[in-house]
Amino acid sequence: MIKDVEKILLSEKFIEAKVSEMAEKISRDYEGKNLLLLGILKGSVVFMGDLMKHLTIPTQIDFMRVSSYGGGTVSSGRVNIILDIFRGDLDTCDVLVVEDIIDSGKTLSYLVQYLKNKGAKSVKTCTMLDKPSRREVDFTPDYVGAEIPDEFVVGYGLDYDENYRALPYIGVLKREVYEK
Ligand code: PRP
Repeated sequence: MIKDVEKILLSEKFIEAKVSEMAEKISRDYEGKNLLLLGILKGSVVFMGDLMKHLTIPTQIDFMRVSSYGGGTVSSGRVNIILDIFRGDLDTCDVLVVEDIIDSGKTLSYLVQYLKNKGAKSVKTCTMLDKPSRREVDFTPDYVGAEIPDEFVVGYGLDYDENYRALPYIGVLKREVYEK
């Protein structure tokens, strides 16, 4: 464990087991469908990479990037799209949006509607972490790795000030690191 991390919340071993369990379920649910994993940059990359390796059905991948300031939204509640998805065949795709974490729920609830409006055949959501106590809009993800308390977590894609994303576990960051 690195010195900036106070404790490990989810170990590498736990994450590995959980991701393969989720991949099994997704493989069953999407059998015969046209799965498109849509990772939301940057936090989702580690989870997405692991998840796709464990799938036993064919999949394609794509990415979007949305802005994070103000909790991922601007005051209008609209999420700012920095990198959009460009595909002519979205109407044939069963999209599974992949996130590292859900907090207020604003990003995913906006994206689901956005992708439906864009004509996706179906849209579901998958997140490694969920912080239900932080929810500001009514939103329930379809696949969840773990529900966690409202602590400042880093690792497995999650950052503080763009650092710590490559840690193989999910840890609680020491207060002194972000309260400097
Ligand atoms: C995080 C996370 C989600 C969003 C969740 O991304 O990956 O996209 O915030 O928050 P919400 O439920 O309150 O909308 P962040 O903006 O930190 O960007 P990053 O993935 O590049 O780290």
